[in-house]
Amino acid sequence: MSSQENSEENLPAEQGTAHAAAHGGGTAVVQHDEDPFADPGLPAHKPRIQDIDERAAKRSERSVALMFTLSMLATIGFIASFVIFPIDKIVYVWPIGHVSALNLSLGLTLGLALFLIGAGAVHWARTLMSDVEVADDRHPIEAAPEVKAKVLADFADGARESAIGRRKLIRNTMFGALAMVPLSGVVLLRELGPLPEDKLRKTLWAKGKLLINMNTNEPLRPEDVVVGSLTFVKPEGLEESNHDFNNEIAKAAVMIVRIQPEEIKDKRELEWSVDGIVAYSKICTHVGCPISLYEQQTHHVLCPCHQSTFDLSDGARVIFGPAGHPLPQLRIGVNAEGNLEALGDFEEPVGPAFWERG
Ligand code: FES
Repeated sequence: MSSQENSEENLPAEQGTAHAAAHGGGTAVVQHDEDPFADPGLPAHKPRIQDIDERAAKRSERSVALMFTLSMLATIGFIASFVIFPIDKIVYVWPIGHVSALNLSLGLTLGLALFLIGAGAVHWARTLMSDVEVADDRHPIEAAPEVKAKVLADFADGARESAIGRRKLIRNTMFGALAMVPLSGVVLLRELGPLPEDKLRKTLWAKGKLLINMNTNEPLRPEDVVVGSLTFVKPEGLEESNHDFNNEIAKAAVMIVRIQPEEIKDKRELEWSVDGIVAYSKICTHVGCPISLYEQQTHHVLCPCHQSTFDLSDGARVIFGPAGHPLPQLRIGVNAEGNLEALGDFEEPVGPAFWERG
């Protein structure tokens, strides 16, 4: 056989015919009776050890039951966390650092409870449920009545083959685990209260507290703030090593910008500034995201969470987005050493504080 015939034999029948004609092959057409894409079918079924050894099946059953039982214990641990850990207890965990003991415990126990239910179900399916391979031809999307009846029959078969009726230990522990997980949601209701009352009204800012640059950790001076820049500051004395740093900075974070004094439209804003340097809370009054985008030509700052936009040249008025209130302004001055200092705390609560505004 020639090499040309060899190459044509490797093509499907129609392509082989066209190829031969295109090359002037005349009657030298190679015909194929075999389907080149024949369905190879399913490989022979191999039974698992659990299918032929009842002791292995029992071991798998106990493993599944153990995972469901551990899931129940993890859920109990989740609920117990609320009793054991005070809400403000901080622990050191390597390599994360300082974290809330309550949050850590809640995350670990709930994650474990859900994981063990999933792992138990997967192990059950892989070792004890029927693993007979089934070929299912494609069919129209709309299900015919007889198909629906078949689905119901298959479902009943599946329930029978899963041995959920026979494996009572698995069934009971699985129902127990599934029934207990929602209890986690019930205890979470505690997190809905109490209201923060005046906690957002008081921050660490006070008269005479220096504005500390959060990048350099040095006191900020007026000459450090140039027009167009955006600087973040914290109150003097608040260090990252403080155990309540996250809580305090979440209220006291302040952004500093410098605007030409003649461009400041709000009279109080001008009085509370130093040569056009203004200090505003960095915490969005919508739901409290940190604001971080400043547009120097328009003096607008944008909250990245839901696009609330505030005009820093006009009392941080809301000009776009869902925020309901301007950003609180911090009154600032310059002390005898030439450093910027606060002249008191914010006059309004920072962040959303909807419960205090009426
Ligand atoms: S938190 Fe800022 S816009 Fe929603």
